[in-house]
Amino acid sequence: IAFFAPKHLAGQRVLVTAGPTFEAIDPVRGITNLSSGKMGFAIARAAQEAGADVTLVAGPVHLPTPRGVRRIDVQSAQNMLEAVAQQAPEATVFIATAAVADWRPASSAEHKIKKDGSGQVPQLAFVENPDILATVAQSERARAGQLFCVGFAAESENLLAHAQAKRARKGVPLLVGNIGPATFGQDDNALLLVDAHGHRELPRASKRQLAQQLIADIAQRLESSIP
Ligand code: C5P
Repeated sequence: IAFFAPKHLAGQRVLVTAGPTFEAIDPVRGITNLSSGKMGFAIARAAQEAGADVTLVAGPVHLPTPRGVRRIDVQSAQNMLEAVAQQAPEATVFIATAAVADWRPASSAEHKIKKDGSGQVPQLAFVENPDILATVAQSERARAGQLFCVGFAAESENLLAHAQAKRARKGVPLLVGNIGPATFGQDDNALLLVDAHGHRELPRASKRQLAQQLIADIAQRLESSIP
């Protein structure tokens, strides 16, 4: 039996970030995190199935591109911001699921850093990465209500309070909390949807099902145009 998802995002152009970023130390080393990209890829797939035109900006992950989705592969947070900044003017929905590295090495060596036999270790200095979601959320189109922005949060404690604070700090109408324990790499998850009016939980289910529920929720917000 074929399953046809309701086309409740027809006419929307959805931009999704997914996966970790990779911040180079030298040509063969870098700093990253354990994000698998599964949630973001599931969201891109669900949005495409719901009739949206979908662009997925992906950090280094090992996942197949969902059918019908335009994919742009990037490495660092700066690369991700460039790709997003290029695509955002065309988008009507931006969903930031990527686990963007908060910091990157202040400089990346041109050649592989070698052990010199003296037992000395390299000293790494860090600088802060740009906040991609906050940057997009502050754009004119987002503030004019032409680009609906959704953020994610992975917290180890006080999820509701942190998610509410993050929603306000990032300036987004909807912030989605990953309900722990650590969901990185897992096939299922539970989500906490936090908006200006309150919050509701999407109980534990596969990331595929949660993505479909989240897309349905976002579609409803777009229809009612009540953020
Ligand atoms: O501040 P924090 O990293 O916890 O916020 C998580 C949310 O912000 C996620 O939606 C993530 O994709 C986004 N983010 C971003 N750019 C960053 C850091 C986080 O877009 N540099």
